[in-house]
Amino acid sequence: MIPTPKAWIRERKNEFYYKKAKAENYRSRATYKLVQANEKYGFIKRGDIVVDLGAAPGGWIQAARKMTGKHGFVLGVDLKPIEPFTQEYIRTIVADLMEPDIVEQILSFLPHKADAVISDAAPNITGVWEVDHARQIELATKALEIAECILKPQGNFFVKVFEGDLLTDFIQNVKAHFEAVKIVKPQASRAKSSEMYILAIGLKSATRATGES
Ligand SMILES: C[S@@+](CC[C@H](N)C(=O)[O-])C[C@H]1O[C@@H](n2cnc3c(N)ncnc32)[C@H](O)[C@@H]1O
Repeated sequence: MIPTPKAWIRERKNEFYYKKAKAENYRSRATYKLVQANEKYGFIKRGDIVVDLGAAPGGWIQAARKMTGKHGFVLGVDLKPIEPFTQEYIRTIVADLMEPDIVEQILSFLPHKADAVISDAAPNITGVWEVDHARQIELATKALEIAECILKPQGNFFVKVFEGDLLTDFIQNVKAHFEAVKIVKPQASRAKSSEMYILAIGLKSATRATGES
């Protein structure tokens, strides 16, 4: 049975990670997906330059900033403006990942190429499974193209996808550009959701490099 909007909001507010995010001053329950994945695989480290694609309201930015510390830097990109942060070494920009000059825009804010690109970007959900899956893979493919251009050689990439028939080709595409690829389902990602993440470790050199290194 589909819950009424009120029941859905009540259920969400009682949910463990929603409460935890509120108590720990994180902007989203999604924060814990990145935290759990990084605890296990360590793809973001102290001092790293991290680019977060589809970053609003900013929970992943908060978590990534803790991981990188004051010698690192986190750039968040979203269609929507992101409320400012009190910490230093964070920058956000309003931009569409589909814009033709998005790579140049991002590189202009970075001191050097990124160590990690993370993307939780998600389309507005229509409820039509094939449409949502295709749009999610389109966004993930765009995030991959951007990552290939803005990552250092050996840089890491972590991206949200939805399960479905386009996923196998997407994973093959990621494998062509990275040394190792894993499918990750953090505990904080709802078990009944078709959401999962692809973690790609070690960008192979000279895939699609542009701009400054
Ligand atoms: C699930 S939210 C990200 C939550 C974030 N990780 C956090 O912890 O706060 C997905 C975001 O992707 C953004 N998004 C979707 N399509 C985009 C696009 N084409 N360009 C930039 N951002 C996009 C949406 O605006 C939305 O804010």
